[in-house]
Amino acid sequence: MRDEWAERFAERAREHWTPARTAELVRDKTLAVLPGEAPELLRALGILHRDASMPPAERRKFFQINHMVAMLGPSLRELVAAREASAPGEPLRIVDAACGRSYLTLLLAHAIPRLHGVPVQVLGVDRNPDVIVESERRTRAAGLSTVVKHDASHLGALDVRRAFREAFALAEAPSVDAVVALHACDTATDDAIVLGVGLDATLLALAPCCQAELARKWSEVAASGATPDAFAPIRRTPHLRREVASLVTDTMRQLLIRAAGYECWALELVPTEHTPKNLMLRAMNRRAPDANARAEYEALRAATGGVGIGLAERLR
Ligand SMILES: C[S@@+](CC[C@H](N)C(=O)[O-])C[C@H]1O[C@@H](n2cnc3c(N)ncnc32)[C@H](O)[C@@H]1O
Repeated sequence: MRDEWAERFAERAREHWTPARTAELVRDKTLAVLPGEAPELLRALGILHRDASMPPAERRKFFQINHMVAMLGPSLRELVAAREASAPGEPLRIVDAACGRSYLTLLLAHAIPRLHGVPVQVLGVDRNPDVIVESERRTRAAGLSTVVKHDASHLGALDVRRAFREAFALAEAPSVDAVVALHACDTATDDAIVLGVGLDATLLALAPCCQAELARKWSEVAASGATPDAFAPIRRTPHLRREVASLVTDTMRQLLIRAAGYECWALELVPTEHTPKNLMLRAMNRRAPDANARAEYEALRAATGGVGIGLAERLR
């Protein structure tokens, strides 16, 4: 029944996504997944309409997840090479932290075997049970139930290796290769970082969102009547405070990730036409803590008002 539907929908998508229409959508971008090639998946995600067209409102999500997978290409190649050397044939194990309705989760599960030639097991975690129910429905509709599982948990409260073992019926708790988090709100991105570092994961890929912790602390400093310093005008102006605090938060995260032994890059995720939240932190575990990174974090903290982010204590 499902196979029949999938075949009919794929046929419709092949007719709709002519080379000209695909070129018009993609323009000069490098995309991991095209609508004519993965209609079942994109329909399951609600990105393709019943008639196989892509409504304008869905294009933003389509480009975000596609760019994230494309940008992970070099890291995934490195990860796959390391994995094949140490445990050939073992699936690559990935946690999508704060997975929401599993756009990225399902795209990774679909694209990695095709692009990198290795099996995957992806665990989507979100504290909201309603989005997990919807994610499980989408996973079935995409035909990915054997390689994607979900867990309705708070990131800070989950034993991920055990969750993998139980979800995929493994004999032992496995090692986890990568933690990804797309727009995990505020400190949920930090939860993902703590999780990844704690798992000794090789790859961390994080597109942060609504970084509110530092802005809140700066607001308290502004209200406290502390002696003004060069940063005081930013701390007392709400819009500037939020904008600058986002960037300083992500700079602090980058330094703390480096101090934890990772090489870490801050990159543009997608052009701002698709989302204003367009920064990605990508980190590869070199198991070589950067000796200067903690000191740079402390210097940045001192220079911007004397308060830092909770992640600093959690990774100490
Ligand atoms: C903006 S949505 C992003 C969802 C998804 N990653 C995406 O890009 O479509 C943020 C999600 O983070 C989840 N979340 C926030 N804090 C969390 C935490 N500490 N543990 C687990 N999930 C969390 C929320 O329930 C929500 O589904």
